[in-house]
Amino acid sequence: MKTISSIQDIRQQVSQWKQQGKKVAFVPTMGNLHQGHLTLVKNAKQQADVVVVSIFVNPMQFGQNEDFDGYPRTYEQDSKALIEVGADLLFMPTPDIIYPKGLDKQTFIEVPEIGDEFCGATRPGHFRGVATVVNKLFNIVQPDVALFGRKDFQQLLIIKTMVEDLSMPIEIIGVDTIREPSGLAMSSRNGYLTADEKQRAAKLKQAMDHIAQGLQQGEELATVRQHAIEMIEQVGFKLDYIEVRSAMTLKPANAGDKQLVILAAAYLGKARLIDNMVFELK
Ligand code: PAJ
Repeated sequence: MKTISSIQDIRQQVSQWKQQGKKVAFVPTMGNLHQGHLTLVKNAKQQADVVVVSIFVNPMQFGQNEDFDGYPRTYEQDSKALIEVGADLLFMPTPDIIYPKGLDKQTFIEVPEIGDEFCGATRPGHFRGVATVVNKLFNIVQPDVALFGRKDFQQLLIIKTMVEDLSMPIEIIGVDTIREPSGLAMSSRNGYLTADEKQRAAKLKQAMDHIAQGLQQGEELATVRQHAIEMIEQVGFKLDYIEVRSAMTLKPANAGDKQLVILAAAYLGKARLIDNMVFELK
């Protein structure tokens, strides 16, 4: 696996592959790779002939008081893991390469509506940073297909919307959330948790299960949601949001909506954890 940081070099390699008729898959990440990321890479290998992974801790998607500086950067370990799962190329640019003019003078992408609530409301500018960097990475790598985790469900919908709205010739594939045996969704930010917090963090998934099962059994949303909030808060989480929405639009579900999603975010210790669960009503 080659590691490349220049835009020119990566374009050259990808265009060579395309001339050979190879299908190119792309998995963008911020590094500190865990089984969730590596599952995206393994799925990518099944979708295409070659797989490009990027590692870029994107300053544009972090708020001023967020963890940009402290975000774990573990290149050696990541590159070993990527070789093991068979990635073909690692793109690892610096902020200067991606944002030569700095962040303030950079053209940006904003996806309306779908990014307004939830993480968009709690983290102003976050999704603008995500959409802008993913758009740039797509233009640099020019993949045929790109894979994203359903764990970041709102992010996945934003990327799908951007690709559709801007007529980008890229297929977007969502991949199911990979969890610890406890049910906790794998995340680079789990590293901020103490061992004890990590055990308690598993309650977030249990609370979502409680809502999904309750609704499937015909219970009232307000009742199951309130109970779920109590479950989470009892173990020390400070809730940001937990809501049930239509999985297609993230709008409040109508009576006919069968595909629903639970979106949740909560703080525990030094970490802000997010998780989601898609489920169906009969
Ligand atoms: P990052 O948090 O590193 O995640 C990279 C990709 O891995 C995302 O598509 C995310 O949804 C997926 N992922 C993370 N944890 C997962 C899990 N437990 N199971 C399955 N997939 C998981 O998301 C970002 O980086 C950035 O916002 C990025 C898209 C790279 C733009 O900067």
